[in-house]
Amino acid sequence: MTSLDTSQIAAVLALIAERSGLVFPDIRGETAVQAIGEFMVERNLRTDRELINSGQLPELLERLVVHESFFDRDVEQLSFLDQIVVPELARVAPGTLRVWSAGCAGGEEPYTLAFMLAKRGLYERSTVLGTDLSEPALARARRGRYRAWSTRLGPGTPAARYLEPIEAQFQVPSRFVQTVTFRRLNLIEDGYPDGQHLILCRNVLIYFDPKSIALVANKLAGALDRDGWLAVGPSDPRLDGVAPLDLVIDDRGVFYRPRNNHTRREPPMWSVATPAPAPAIHWVAPPPESFEDVFELPPPSVPARVVVTREPQPTVDAHEIRRLADLGDLPRAKTILTAALAARPLDAELYFLQAVLATELDPVAALASLGRCIYLDPTKAAAHLLAASLRRSRGQHAEARQAYRATLTLVTRLPATEPVQWIDETAGSLTTVCRHALEQLDGNR
Ligand SMILES: C[S@@+](CC[C@H](N)C(=O)[O-])C[C@H]1O[C@@H](n2cnc3c(N)ncnc32)[C@H](O)[C@@H]1O
Repeated sequence: MTSLDTSQIAAVLALIAERSGLVFPDIRGETAVQAIGEFMVERNLRTDRELINSGQLPELLERLVVHESFFDRDVEQLSFLDQIVVPELARVAPGTLRVWSAGCAGGEEPYTLAFMLAKRGLYERSTVLGTDLSEPALARARRGRYRAWSTRLGPGTPAARYLEPIEAQFQVPSRFVQTVTFRRLNLIEDGYPDGQHLILCRNVLIYFDPKSIALVANKLAGALDRDGWLAVGPSDPRLDGVAPLDLVIDDRGVFYRPRNNHTRREPPMWSVATPAPAPAIHWVAPPPESFEDVFELPPPSVPARVVVTREPQPTVDAHEIRRLADLGDLPRAKTILTAALAARPLDAELYFLQAVLATELDPVAALASLGRCIYLDPTKAAAHLLAASLRRSRGQHAEARQAYRATLTLVTRLPATEPVQWIDETAGSLTTVCRHALEQLDGNR
């Protein structure tokens, strides 16, 4: 329990918003207040001033931020980058291609981009940069060693194929570990790189207050090359109203370009729907047929709506278990999980998290937990997908097929851009992943 009163906590929350942009609405507010209280008491700090003067704000932030990330996250959006954006950039930018993952957490995103460039033979003439507020996350990124949960979409997705299995974990090949650059950058502050051709700032601004969103959006706009692209996550806030950016929407994701600045070279892949000076929205035309697909993606049909819905919030302890698991602190995650299960033995999500924690070291136990989870709640695609992936890696192809089909049935009921509960991935991406896995499994029959 905290011995700080509400006004002391409010002052610390205001300080955090000012220094990092981060705010804690919904369920995260409860977790944050608890974590701040515990931290301040533990460190014998009573006010926001004392916290600042002690130099311990970064450590407190570490307890509060969400570092969740994984390889091939939002595979649909990545397929757009792979098929439309990267080939276009390769054409219009003859020199070095500069690619930046802003808020890269443990590095899965910049490595995913590096692999995408390598697949097209462009990596040698590219720079890939990952930045984050968190030094511990950056240290994990520089190491390039990942737990199985970082490849949660399964072994067949584009980036996962580059990873080298080592002792139940996955290692990024050394040529990428040595050449992808990581550095600390607080997005609220200066020090942005410039002339970037592709920036990913996904699932970062979702946690920011409106003032900081506008500040960062303008800085990101300033960091883009005139031909550049900015990709954001499906639940991230709109940026074109607060910064000189034009919105580009495709079935596969949300993107921005510098307003009225990028060169329109042949053949135009988008059309201007709203003329300047208002922010323009570009609807992207179907890609040319000859793109060498990693996945056989269906061509975009109708323009997707921008979905800004958020998932139902997890419980406080589920949130904390995920946070600790993302930090690699499995012992503490398991302790909280055990207590939570004792209190709520019929909570399906807790069995899902139990499976996630066991995936790497004990896949049989993970499958047993998934069995309980699916028994309690058969509607969660994330549980079926994890079961499918585990069955597949154990060579149980018939069971894997069945689980991929169950996942597919559930995700195809949702709009493509809808986030899927528990896995933080869009329904469209999971549809693609399942179809691809089923094709591969059928090919192995
Ligand atoms: C949920 S992760 C997103 C990781 C990755 N972009 C993805 O989508 O998989 C959000 C990351 O943003 C970082 N972050 C939060 N506030 C930040 C700030 N002010 N400056 C830089 N990074 C920040 C966190 O440390 C965390 O690693």
